[in-house]
Amino acid sequence: MSQADLTKMSEKAAIRVDELPIFAPDLDAVHEYQFIGLNNRDSRSRPFHLLRTTLSKRLKEKNYRLVGITSATPAAGKSFLSMNLAASLAQVVDDPVFLVDLDLRRASLARDIGLDVNRGISDFLTGDVSDLPSIAIRIEGSNLTLFPTKRVSNNTAELVSGTNFDHLINSLREQTGQSIILFDLPPAFANDDTMLILEKLDSYIMVVDSGETNRRQVQDMLVMLDPVPCAGTILNRYRGGFGDSYGYGYGASSYTKYYD
Ligand SMILES: Nc1ncnc2c1ncn2[C@@H]1O[C@H](COP(=O)(O)OP(=O)(O)OP(=O)(O)O)[C@@H](O)[C@H]1O
Ligand SMILES: [Mg+2]
Repeated sequence: MSQADLTKMSEKAAIRVDELPIFAPDLDAVHEYQFIGLNNRDSRSRPFHLLRTTLSKRLKEKNYRLVGITSATPAAGKSFLSMNLAASLAQVVDDPVFLVDLDLRRASLARDIGLDVNRGISDFLTGDVSDLPSIAIRIEGSNLTLFPTKRVSNNTAELVSGTNFDHLINSLREQTGQSIILFDLPPAFANDDTMLILEKLDSYIMVVDSGETNRRQVQDMLVMLDPVPCAGTILNRYRGGFGDSYGYGYGASSYTKYYD
C-alpha cells in the first residue's frame, strides 16, 4: 500500500469523543491501582499537576503530539504514570487527551481500571478491526479516551512495523485535531517493539525507576533511541530532595543533568 493510499484511508472525520462508549472505572480497581490523576481532590494527584504543567508546556513548545512512555527496566511505573498523567492532563487541556496501550505483550491499562476488552489495538494491527473509533473508550467524567489492547504473545515486531501500524499512526494523527496522544510502551530493552514504534512518534518520555534503573542503562537507552527526541524524564518512586514527597519528578532537560 502506498503512502498516498494510507493518507487517503486516514482522511476521515475527527474521532468524535462525545459519541464513544463511556466506561466508569470500578472504584475498587481504581483504588488498588492508584488511578488518582482523575480526582483533583486526592492529595496524591498533586504531583501529577506539576508534571502535566511542565509536560504540556514542553510538548507545545516543541510541537510534539504523539508521545511514547518507556523505561529501561520493567515495572518502572510506565503504565501507572501514563494513565495518571493522561487523566491529569485531560483536566487542563482544551482538546481531548488520548491514551494508547501499545505494550502488546503485557497490555495492562484496561485490566488495571477493571475494563474487560473484547477487541483493541492489537485487533486493529492484525486487520480484524478496521474502524478505529470502534475500539476507543471514553473514561467517564473526563476528557480522556483510552485505546486499550488485548495481549498478544508473539510477532509483535511484525505488528508494529506493518502497514496497519502506519495506518494506525496516520489515522491517529489525522483524526485527533491538536490532541496530545500518550502511548504506554514496553521497556526499551525488552524487545525491538519500542524502537520500531518510536520511529513513528514525535517524542518519548523516559521513566526512571529510582534505585532500579542505573545511569548506564539510561545512557544506553538514549543512544539506542536516538534520534527520537526525549521530551523529558520522570524519576519515579524517588523519596528524597528532588521531585516531591510522593515520588515523582520531571526533568525537562537531559537526564544526566541530575546525576552529574
Ligand atoms: N509512584 C508510584 N506510587 C505507587 N505505586 C506505583 C508507583 N509507580 C508504580 N507503582 C505501582 O507499581 C506497579 C508497577 O507499575 P506499572 O505497571 O505502571 O509498571 P510498568 O513500567 O508499566 O511495568 P511493565 O514494564 O510490566 O509494563 C503497579 O502496581 C503500580 O501501581
Ligand atoms: Mg506497563
